[in-house]
Amino acid sequence: MFFAKAVSVLALVCLPISGAGLAHAQDTKEKAAAVKEEDGKWFDADGNPTYNIKDDGTVDWYTFSGYRRYHSDCHVCHGPDGVGSSYAPALAATMKNMDYGTFLSIVAEGRKNLSAGKENVMPAFGDNKNVYCYMDDLYIYLRARSVDGIPRGRPPKKADKPQAAKDAEASCMGG
Ligand code: HEC
Repeated sequence: MFFAKAVSVLALVCLPISGAGLAHAQDTKEKAAAVKEEDGKWFDADGNPTYNIKDDGTVDWYTFSGYRRYHSDCHVCHGPDGVGSSYAPALAATMKNMDYGTFLSIVAEGRKNLSAGKENVMPAFGDNKNVYCYMDDLYIYLRARSVDGIPRGRPPKKADKPQAAKDAEASCMGG
């Protein structure tokens, strides 16, 4: 009996050690660093979309666009600048550990948390063009927020809208 207890105490004590593995998987500023640009969109070393900010504070188009989309479709539940609310989690924290694919599928399919008598619902946006045509924009903006790559609030300066963004928008919104 005592032994079993000691073992479970040991397991608890060991948690922070396995936590180190988690910390390793965390998105960090270095991991989110933009290393490649393609038609005005930036990518990290793993090929995932990311933000870019110049020394004078100019952000890439997608970060700015994501800021605007977030504050029209997500902030009512998730709070301004991704800081969270009593209803929905702080995405600026979530995105430290959430990969691109998981983000896309949760936003497209939604999620329900019915635990502990709660009924907090993340709506499915898979048929909402104002969201799904701008998934990368949202991801890039929230990723920037999660690693403190950009400050809170509206980015004061932005890059011009790339032709690729105009083309993708036209075909997504029109199709
Ligand atoms: C009607 C309120 C509401 C709106 C609007 C909303 N969400 Fe959510 N969202 C939630 C709730 C509630 C949860 C938590 C659900 C759960 O615990 O399973 C959530 C969860 C999430 C998660 C998973 C977070 C985590 O920590 O696991 C992501 C990612 C997310 N939302 C992204 C978005 C994005 C992007 C938008 C805007 C396009 C958005 N949400 C709009 C309510 C909302």
